[in-house]
Amino acid sequence: MFKLLLKLINRITAYVAHVNLLCCLLSLGNAANLDEMSRKTGKSTTQIINEVIHRQYAKEARTMDLAHHGTVITFATIKGGTAKTTSVTAFADVLARQGKHILVIDAVPRGRLAILLGLTSEGSYKNTLKALINDRLTANSEHLDIRTFLHPATQTSSRIDIIPSDSRLNDAFTRINETVFARAALFRNIIEEIRALDKYDYIIFDTSSELHREVAPVLIATDHVIIPIEPSVDAISGAKMTMKFMEKFLPLNANLQLLGIFMTKTNKRYKSFRQTFPQSQKTFDKHMFHTLLPIRQDAVNAANRHVPVTKKCPRNKLSQKYEELVAEAISRIEGQDTSC
Ligand SMILES: Nc1ncnc2c1ncn2[C@@H]1O[C@H](COP(=O)(O)OP(=O)(O)O)[C@@H](O)[C@H]1O
Ligand SMILES: [Mg+2]
Repeated sequence: MFKLLLKLINRITAYVAHVNLLCCLLSLGNAANLDEMSRKTGKSTTQIINEVIHRQYAKEARTMDLAHHGTVITFATIKGGTAKTTSVTAFADVLARQGKHILVIDAVPRGRLAILLGLTSEGSYKNTLKALINDRLTANSEHLDIRTFLHPATQTSSRIDIIPSDSRLNDAFTRINETVFARAALFRNIIEEIRALDKYDYIIFDTSSELHREVAPVLIATDHVIIPIEPSVDAISGAKMTMKFMEKFLPLNANLQLLGIFMTKTNKRYKSFRQTFPQSQKTFDKHMFHTLLPIRQDAVNAANRHVPVTKKCPRNKLSQKYEELVAEAISRIEGQDTSC
């Protein structure tokens, strides 16, 4: 239903744009006017028309730029410990420092994303993702405003908000999975509500390794999936399983795509890296991001201090590589790099 509505809005926007363009051309007046402008400026009439078209499209592009799109990026893989959560905090921090507005959603039962972004410990906020899911699943009631679930992560950035997890989020996932409709539409509806706020450039999900139970409902509302791997055979087969799992959702979500796979915790001197890196390149080919993230103790230290590593040690190698990875990911989203 939402999809149809979105399609309709897109159609109308495109139609309005073309009508605008036509008006613009007509406002140039009749052929005589055009000839006169051509004489005055020394430009050909075709050149003048081209310039008007160009100006009009540039204006529309600027307007589109100003709008917050709320692109949904989900970090997912069945293999645990491959730096999904670490990467969510790093992506949010790097993008926020570039002036983007970010909402991170912790879809990991007992997830610690809020704590890692500097929010005080669990319990000090009650409007968690579980509460949001339960609220939206309760029929015939006045639903709470979506804004009550958005917690500013001001310790990290004034541009990052979070919907935190809590210890009972798994119960909410059970409820979602009990109803086909909820599984298919709940997160999509939530994302549409968030997009309607026109506040966020990116919405980033952290997920658990429970693909069927806890990742599936999120994939239905996702635009881009990023799969992190580490130099291990398990991580590579985990990524393959995750890709296969994703395929099932294509008929349900036409926007869903794999943005790419990156390898982290790397050290070129380690045998594990030398053995698994060529294998991952061969297996995932164009899906692999070029950026390789090094293994660094700072990642663990930053997590212990509840700060994204990119904020705690912005100059270290890992943070710099995260910046490169974010740039690579965004250029893929914006279609500047068509290799994926
Ligand atoms: N580049 C890195 N170098 C060293 N340790 C890392 C790196 N990235 C993440 N870690 C550590 O690996 C562990 C697992 O990372 P985490 O982000 O929690 O993985 P996941 O969310 O996929 O389970 C954490 O202790 C984290 O601090
Ligand atoms: Mg995690």
